[in-house]
Amino acid sequence: MIYQVYPRSFQDSDGDGIGDLAGIRQRLDHLVALGVDALWLSPIFPSPMADFGYDVAEYRGVEPMFGDLAQFDALLADVHARGLKLMLDFVPNHTSTEHPWFLESRASRDNPKRDWYFWRDPKPAADGTPGPPNNWTSDMGGSAWQFDEATGQYYLHTFLKEQADLNWRNPEVRAAMMDVLRFWFDRGVDGFRIDVLWHCLKSQGLEDNPLNPAYRPGMGEKYLVLQHNSANQREIHELAGAFRSLADSYGDRLLVGEIFLPLEQLMTYYGSAEQPGVHLPFNFQLLETPWKADALAQAIATYEAALPQGGWPNWVMGSHDAPRIAGRLGEAQARNAAMLLLTLRGTPTLYQGDELGIGRVTIPPDRICDPQDLRQPGLGLGRDGARTPMAWDGTAYAGFSTIEPWLPLHADWRVRNVSRQEQEPGSMLGLYRRLLAARREHPALSHGEIVLLPYEPEVLRYERRAAGERLLVALNLSEQERLVDLPPGTSADLLVSTAGSPLFDGRLLPGEGVLLQLKEC
Ligand code: GLC
Repeated sequence: MIYQVYPRSFQDSDGDGIGDLAGIRQRLDHLVALGVDALWLSPIFPSPMADFGYDVAEYRGVEPMFGDLAQFDALLADVHARGLKLMLDFVPNHTSTEHPWFLESRASRDNPKRDWYFWRDPKPAADGTPGPPNNWTSDMGGSAWQFDEATGQYYLHTFLKEQADLNWRNPEVRAAMMDVLRFWFDRGVDGFRIDVLWHCLKSQGLEDNPLNPAYRPGMGEKYLVLQHNSANQREIHELAGAFRSLADSYGDRLLVGEIFLPLEQLMTYYGSAEQPGVHLPFNFQLLETPWKADALAQAIATYEAALPQGGWPNWVMGSHDAPRIAGRLGEAQARNAAMLLLTLRGTPTLYQGDELGIGRVTIPPDRICDPQDLRQPGLGLGRDGARTPMAWDGTAYAGFSTIEPWLPLHADWRVRNVSRQEQEPGSMLGLYRRLLAARREHPALSHGEIVLLPYEPEVLRYERRAAGERLLVALNLSEQERLVDLPPGTSADLLVSTAGSPLFDGRLLPGEGVLLQLKEC
């Protein structure tokens, strides 16, 4: 079970309105009480924060706003002392344009680091005026190329113009970045989430991408073209394999890859028996599948069937990039989402604040920070709503900080906070704790097989089975009461109800999910 910490918004310890490493240290007991196994920290490295840390200006240090290396070591020691693991966020596709490597690369056409990035001459457009070298689009809108006056060439940036893409075909880049991984592994870090892994290699010739026939205005300009040449090249698997070999050389380490691709392509990132890839290519399907029993059952079945031999599944229900699950589904279904996430087969990743059921947060226009929103306003692409501070208690600023935080708190923070929910067994936090406790108690949940049961209208049902144990999950996705059929020859004991029902009598309340232990009778 992985818990994603967004460091800017977890706990502020020095009163600047922004979270930090010392703050995370103060709050580790929350993670122990919750019952997670590992923390993944979004980037903590020195950064001008154009993309809130995903623009790294130095890979082997700590952003002063968050602390320093000594504080990092202290955090790591505390995490380990509590029996937890710590993962960092490795951002290999691009550096900040303030990284010394880029500053050198930009200085002159013959600089030794020129080839560490992608520099190309302008290409004349149809009307003869100079334009970008190809038609690739940036994820944040507009061309993926930025003209640089200093040397009269363009450089490539798949994301912001402040995030220049590294050229991974250059062996010096590769060696320098492998050293970065070694630096943190040597300090005792347990693994990495690898940012936009599928982007790291581009076609040799940087040819134009095909136009996207499905593009419609309003989708975001990145969808103007298909990413045929700008991402997911065959050679990426060799690179993922090299990351894996390095991780394995340190023993028990974990690599998670951030990859947004159709299922069959996603699965290739597990690698092969001869050359394993990342342990867990992130599976974002629950964020995209319509909240309907048939659609979810199909998504689960298709994913399970597509896993390569020995591939361990994983599920993600939220992140710093996606709208809050409780905002999307409402409180009752967010409870079902918790039960689903924690009872499917494989490693779940929980995003901070989802354990409180934080819903949609409206950010006043003058407080929008996310560059994605600021550069393409009005398309609903803003990610700030998922990045607002954690709420710890009912005191000023929810115990997160002593001053107004960098992003506003959710409106109901006075009641939706850790300390309040700890006292209410029926709270979302109480539910998460019970589900995580059940995962530890019942081997069928942690490593049993999954068997999807025949479809019943708006009730998603599956069994988890391990030697001597059968558990049934039934989630009522409708707003009506539903009856649940048990498998023939079984009766059931209630382990967890999302609605706090004391026992199970064959009926599900509107929106209720249950975890049942089956007994042969
Ligand atoms: C990943 C991060 C996202 C960031 C992007 C560029 O998708 O999760 O927050 O903007 O990479 O680094």
